[in-house]
Amino acid sequence: MRHGMTLLIFGILVVIQQYLEEFRGRYATAQVDYSQFVNPLIGSEGPYPGEAFGGGDILVGGAVPFGDRATLNGGFTPNGKVTAISMMHESGTGGPPKYGVIAQMPLTTIKAPVNILDNTTYWQRRVGNDVAQVNYFSTELADGIKIELSGARHSGILQYTFPDGERHVLVDVSHYLPDGGFGGSSIQYYLGGEINLKDNGIYTGYGTYGGGFNEGAPMTVHFCGDFETPPTKSKTFKGRNTDPMQRQHNFANGGPQLPIFGGQISEQAGLMNDRVGAVFSWDSSSPNMIRSRVGISFISTDKACRFKDDEIPSYDLQQTVDAGRKEWNEEVFSKIQVDTGESANQTNLILLYSSLYFMHLMPSNREGENPLWKSDEPSWDDFYAIWDIFRCTVSLYHLIQPTAYESMIRSLIDIWRYDGFMPDGRSGNWNGLTQGGSNADNVLADAYVKGLRGGINWTEGYAAMVKDAERKEGRGALYDWIPLGYVSSDRSTRCISRTVEYSLNDFSLYQVAQGEAPGDASKYLNRSANWQNIWVHDLVSVNTTESFKGFMAPRLSSGEFNLTNYNPAICDECSWRSVTYEEYSFTIPHDAETLIEFMGGAADFERRLDYIFEPNSSQANLGANGAGINTIMNIGNEPDFATPYLYNYINKQYKSVERSRYLGNRYFKNANYGVPGNSDAGALNSWLIWQMIGMYPIVTQPVYLLESPWFSDINMTINHDKILRISTTNLGQESFYVQSVRLNGQRWNKNWFEHTDVMVDGGTIEFELGPEPIIWESGSVPPSPGHVEK
Ligand SMILES: *[C@@H]1O[C@H](CO)[C@@H](O)[C@H](O)[C@H]1NC(C)=O
Ligand SMILES: *[C@@H]1O[C@H](CO)[C@@H](O)[C@H](O)[C@H]1NC(C)=O
Ligand SMILES: *[C@@H]1O[C@H](CO)[C@@H](O)[C@H](O)[C@H]1NC(C)=O
Ligand SMILES: *[C@@H]1O[C@H](CO)[C@@H](O)[C@H](O)[C@H]1NC(C)=O
Ligand SMILES: *[C@@H]1O[C@H](CO)[C@@H](O)[C@H](O)[C@H]1NC(C)=O
Ligand SMILES: *[C@@H]1O[C@H](CO)[C@@H](O)[C@H](O)[C@H]1NC(C)=O
Ligand SMILES: *[C@@H]1O[C@H](CO)[C@@H](O)[C@H](O)[C@H]1NC(C)=O
Ligand SMILES: *[C@@H]1O[C@H](CO)[C@@H](O)[C@H](O)[C@H]1NC(C)=O
Repeated sequence: MRHGMTLLIFGILVVIQQYLEEFRGRYATAQVDYSQFVNPLIGSEGPYPGEAFGGGDILVGGAVPFGDRATLNGGFTPNGKVTAISMMHESGTGGPPKYGVIAQMPLTTIKAPVNILDNTTYWQRRVGNDVAQVNYFSTELADGIKIELSGARHSGILQYTFPDGERHVLVDVSHYLPDGGFGGSSIQYYLGGEINLKDNGIYTGYGTYGGGFNEGAPMTVHFCGDFETPPTKSKTFKGRNTDPMQRQHNFANGGPQLPIFGGQISEQAGLMNDRVGAVFSWDSSSPNMIRSRVGISFISTDKACRFKDDEIPSYDLQQTVDAGRKEWNEEVFSKIQVDTGESANQTNLILLYSSLYFMHLMPSNREGENPLWKSDEPSWDDFYAIWDIFRCTVSLYHLIQPTAYESMIRSLIDIWRYDGFMPDGRSGNWNGLTQGGSNADNVLADAYVKGLRGGINWTEGYAAMVKDAERKEGRGALYDWIPLGYVSSDRSTRCISRTVEYSLNDFSLYQVAQGEAPGDASKYLNRSANWQNIWVHDLVSVNTTESFKGFMAPRLSSGEFNLTNYNPAICDECSWRSVTYEEYSFTIPHDAETLIEFMGGAADFERRLDYIFEPNSSQANLGANGAGINTIMNIGNEPDFATPYLYNYINKQYKSVERSRYLGNRYFKNANYGVPGNSDAGALNSWLIWQMIGMYPIVTQPVYLLESPWFSDINMTINHDKILRISTTNLGQESFYVQSVRLNGQRWNKNWFEHTDVMVDGGTIEFELGPEPIIWESGSVPPSPGHVEK
């Protein structure tokens, strides 16, 4: 399943307008251009040089924060050939790609053998002069065309510098990011479209596309494009749509003639609406530089034209680049300020600001751009997937993007209101698949326990959660969960991981119920302990150099456990069909107390944690996605995000610091292969930010674990306009173990604190660091508010 070829991408991002204005009224313009520290290529490559497979799958292109926008998923592979520059993308997602639609491709010839209906006859290698910066990307094609691009909210600007000779721009409405070999029902397909040519080279139309990893219903995107220099000639074209497609029509008499692509007869052909497009051409008296603006809208071509004109008033590319950078600096980068002077560690600056960049590419703000229903509530898309971002990404939004975050939650609730359920993998206006639990519940609970109210109707928020907890679709295995108290191995896939996730989901209900429906609280607290129902106390580890007792195991609907050939260290292929989706044994954030007890007490818990960091402890070969990780602990895998910090729960914080810092240094780099696997919509990047600021949030609880910062002075703007200052003394390459902590000036003897301590009104956290690992904490261990003894 390697991705062989690729498209170049072009992400445009939506910025929240009213949010921006409020922001501008209150703050001075950011003083420092933090965008210079961003390397947009971190995560663009995987373990095979030149290929994106197994890498971050990030977007490379022009983008503004929370804009509209996907290895191939990001639409970019280092050695890929360019087939088009397109307007919509995801960033960091795995599985088959989504988007890559509304495209342009500059060409130096359209004569045979070029066939504009066959991308393999015109695609181009890049000659290697790529420049990737915040909201700017440029590359040079083998045929000598230089492409530069930048993005605004719902529009983009493209600048082509042609060599002497012919100049053409191809607009192929049927273009989308192709499947990299996955096949099945999650590949994208083109259903139809229209293109109209107006005076002066303006073109409008729409394209309709379906599929993608979330198996989305068709979505229609309207577009409006123009050129600075009107083309000398323009013509539309039409061709039979021959792409393989889901549920395609075939004639009973043997179907249509098989088409020829790339010189080969295609085995599969479907009959759908024709492919359409246009070719624009300029004669040799026109300038070599051709510039184009393109707007897009889910609502209408008129809106797409207005976006183009309003958002990109000038053909001067730099103006759009600068406007986007200003937004990035003001809205995103300046929220976490560290010393950027000459003595600062440049690598760490790049890692910090690049991570902030990647965690703000998705989800997409679609204010006013919801084609499905009319509502006064905000509209967001590309929660892709909440399974990835619920663990620590949203907790960071809560602090540094409170307005956008409240808006996202209102949109999640509005999706429930009109679409029936809150999403897990929503993209292209379609809720799509649910990876495990109904994890939007965790997002709501995390916001609720930290006091977020604002314009959120929590009566309805809680109602949306109850529907997830009680009605099929919210969670796929409620037919097991409700009567049995676990997800069974004979009637359901992913029985272990879903049992674990549903437990936390029900804990989330408990958290919100305490305020919104106290009568429900004990029921959901009870259900949050259901993970205990699949715990086998005397099950002993297999093929480990040390022996451990007590694991979760597959349980049949009859109540019996099925331990045949079961090895808790191996999740089989860790797929959607397996007993466990990925590594799960340590993921009980709401009741660490019981988990520790079940693992044999603090000493055995520590021994088990130590073991999962041992080289070669993993009995599974993670392949290209594994980033060379051979420990059971896998930081490229979201369920393990909190695992290195679990030593805090036995008051051995120094080990959490040592392990997590090692992971941060070992697997996150200022390099194209700089994240361990897919960035997952910025989830991995946000993990690193928490690591660098010296704390970790426990999702669904108003609790943060104290760790050890990578910078000596950090000013974070939180809760709209409050300042949290995090400072250290004695920070050094070998000097990072905590010796003591002061919170708001007071000596602090616990290795954790609560949201209200410093995250509401701001405050200070001062770390005294040193080279010696010591047990500095004497207070109570972090709480287990979901503690239930069965
Ligand atoms: C090239 O076009 C064909 C036919 O539409 C399509 O199946 C294929 O996915 C395209 N390849 C790329 C790299 O876009
Ligand atoms: C943090 O804020 C304080 C108080 O305004 C200031 O003195 C300090 O220089 C700031 N540190 C950084 C890294 O911006
Ligand atoms: C910067 O910090 C990293 C750890 O993040 C370290 O590996 C590197 O050596 C430091 N660079 C300098 C110049 O100190
Ligand atoms: C919240 O939603 C409930 C149920 O739909 C409704 O009765 C109530 O009026 C709403 N509250 C507000 C403040 O809009
Ligand atoms: C908790 O669940 C158990 C079964 O697992 C049941 O017997 C008990 O009544 C439940 N308690 C509450 C308060 O719902
Ligand atoms: C028990 O697990 C084994 C190994 O996965 C499997 O082959 C077998 O079908 C399972 N038994 C039942 C009753 O599901
Ligand atoms: C334990 O290791 C041996 C040798 O590698 C292997 O044959 C066996 O299948 C493993 N057992 C389990 C349960 O994984
Ligand atoms: C881990 O396994 C590899 C491959 O089997 C081996 O080369 C390496 O020496 C092992 N490392 C340790 C620390 O055991």
